[in-house]
Amino acid sequence: MADGIWEAVDRYFLDTIVGQDAALAEAQRAAEAAGLPPISVTAAQGKLLHLLVRIHGARRVLEVGTLAGYSTIWMARALPPGGTLISLEYEPRHAEVARANLDRAGVSGVVEIRVGAALETLPSLEGPFDLVFIDADKENNPGYFQWALRLSRPGGVIVVDNVVRGGKVADPASADADALGVRRMVDLIAAERQVAATAIQTVGGKSYDGFLLAVVNG
Ligand SMILES: C[S@@+](CC[C@H](N)C(=O)[O-])C[C@H]1O[C@@H](n2cnc3c(N)ncnc32)[C@H](O)[C@@H]1O
Repeated sequence: MADGIWEAVDRYFLDTIVGQDAALAEAQRAAEAAGLPPISVTAAQGKLLHLLVRIHGARRVLEVGTLAGYSTIWMARALPPGGTLISLEYEPRHAEVARANLDRAGVSGVVEIRVGAALETLPSLEGPFDLVFIDADKENNPGYFQWALRLSRPGGVIVVDNVVRGGKVADPASADADALGVRRMVDLIAAERQVAATAIQTVGGKSYDGFLLAVVNG
């Protein structure tokens, strides 16, 4: 199976049921025009995050890794009235592009972007959050997951993107720093009685990867 067919199928569902509007498409165009790396979630994945926020009835959402705010917009649009989202981003330039995108999408009133290294901004946050989406530098995933646990309410949902790393995650000999970050986080989750978790491999417009889904035991 080639990436081409995965892209074509993603495109088919995008054109039929995913429903990406002009503001979301423009957010991707603005990110590209500003020279940001093309590493956001796909539209299908963005819609999945949107649906998770809705299914869970999440009112307070935390995101680690904003980039141009593409996933942020999908999740912010799923919030109920009074809901809020905090997104953490290291690069001031990314945050600037994201803020303009959030404005265009009409969600800047419910989203706050905090600029800085997430391990330094996380301690200043007050929980509890209903849903946390982790999608920043994978090396720091263990620290991000520990913070997500600390800041989540009982029953809270934690989603971690890009946990497959082209299969390197399952290779104990891999020296890839990102895969090692994911493996250390998985070890931590495996030893943690406070969460129930699974991981799903995915293919699509961004090739082969996967995400981890966890719920904090009540
Ligand atoms: C994969 S992108 C996020 C994509 C975004 N969630 C989306 O799907 O639209 C990862 C982002 O994390 C940011 N990042 C990297 N290291 C970070 C750190 N230490 N603290 C906070 N953000 C960081 C990067 O600058 C980048 O914008």
